[in-house]
Amino acid sequence: MSKKPTKATITFDNDANSIELPMLSGTAGNDVIDIRNLGKHSVFTYDPGFMSTAACQSNITFIDGEKGQLLYRGYPIEQLAEHCDFLEVSYLLMHGELPNATQKTEFTSVINSHTMLHDQLSNIFRGFRRDAHPMAVMIGVVGSMSAFYFDAMDVYNPQHRIISAHRLLAKIPTIAAWSYKYNLGQPFMHPKNKLNYAENFIHMMFATPCEEYTPNPILARAFEKILILHADHEQNASTSTVRLVGSSGANPFASIAAGIASLWGPAHGGANEATLDMLEEIGDVSRIDEFIKRAKDKSDSFRLMGFGHRVYRSMDPRAAIMQKTCYEVLDELGLHDDPMFKLALKLEQIALEDDYFVSKKLYPNVDFYSGIVMRAMGIPNSMFTAIFALARTAGWIAQWSEMNADPEHKIGRPRQLYTGETRREFVPIGKRK
Ligand code: ACO
Repeated sequence: MSKKPTKATITFDNDANSIELPMLSGTAGNDVIDIRNLGKHSVFTYDPGFMSTAACQSNITFIDGEKGQLLYRGYPIEQLAEHCDFLEVSYLLMHGELPNATQKTEFTSVINSHTMLHDQLSNIFRGFRRDAHPMAVMIGVVGSMSAFYFDAMDVYNPQHRIISAHRLLAKIPTIAAWSYKYNLGQPFMHPKNKLNYAENFIHMMFATPCEEYTPNPILARAFEKILILHADHEQNASTSTVRLVGSSGANPFASIAAGIASLWGPAHGGANEATLDMLEEIGDVSRIDEFIKRAKDKSDSFRLMGFGHRVYRSMDPRAAIMQKTCYEVLDELGLHDDPMFKLALKLEQIALEDDYFVSKKLYPNVDFYSGIVMRAMGIPNSMFTAIFALARTAGWIAQWSEMNADPEHKIGRPRQLYTGETRREFVPIGKRK
């Protein structure tokens, strides 16, 4: 096998001096060329969309896009989804190791001690229009947490960071569920700490004060899997947003609110809602060809939602788990003939055989199936991305804490390739054309 390179050299075609750059290796994944000192040579790199740029060091999550592998702290997602609950996975992401039995009990108890929202926060909800999108409400409410929980917001204090992380993880299900209840016009349901994390959220979503409600354990477990699968995904758009906002020393609530805003986009977390909207628009197996044709047409902005991924060049491992979970949930609910699921399966099959999708390595991503599972559970489309945000909060706080604890971290400040006017003189308004 050839030796790994330790240096890379940039040469210029005008006989200018060449520049030697060190190479860095991680424990897995591509090596990187360390370009930190390139600016001293009056040259920058150009990489819109960070297609080839590692913006940080991280030891939390690893994706092998070619193999379709996802690891949280080294553990394969398949094993975590099968054997863990969401709080164990959150602990793993935050602390680097799975908790032992005592640590798990203590962690659960700490999280439970923070599940309630400050009573005045309910007034923030009431300031929104009833028909506001739950993501709009979540961005606002999470951002406003910095006006309620400012006693532990010193980002340079490790203890404060942990307290804020616990608060975010504990309160985000309450915030997500309340954004739905407000929309519905039903009373807010308070958390019930005797329930587990997933059951508690389901209870706050679907229970009302006038009737007893017991979450279905099979559906709760399926929901827990959705949370685990969405908990982290290395340096995606929303996580990078959290890091960038947090890099200026911004408080954790402002940083996570920015992450939620980034997640909302249809190219990212909004894809699960967009997938269901798309399936509803297609409506019937007979119309699949028409939509596949549109997805391939460069002059049409339509894309097959729930397909494709920046990093995965094979099947998203989360999609495979979600497809199986989809069968379990539809079985439990007696919905195996669900037309939407059948339509999704047919669409997947046709796309996987189509040369356009095959040659571009466009496979279903996790969002392709998570929407169907959530819909079967009675969760409205508008809540899908909010639930993604609830799950991803675990990853965001782990990544935000990692960045703040890293002595090498700097304010994120990209450079640019300027293409505007060069210096010119001011023209008084009367003389402008
Ligand atoms: N349908 C049709 N064509 C597609 C799709 C799609 N879903 N995704 C990518 N392509 C095509 C592009 O048109 C492009 O074709 P070209 O090379 O001929 O121009 C090529 O595949 C590469 O696509 P890019 O947009 O350059 O790839 P990028 O890595 O920037 O985008 C993304 C990845 C945003 C996920 C894209 O695949 C997409 O828009 N998918 C649909 C939305 C979606 O499902 N998002 C969820 C992402 S996963 C998550 O956030 C959990």
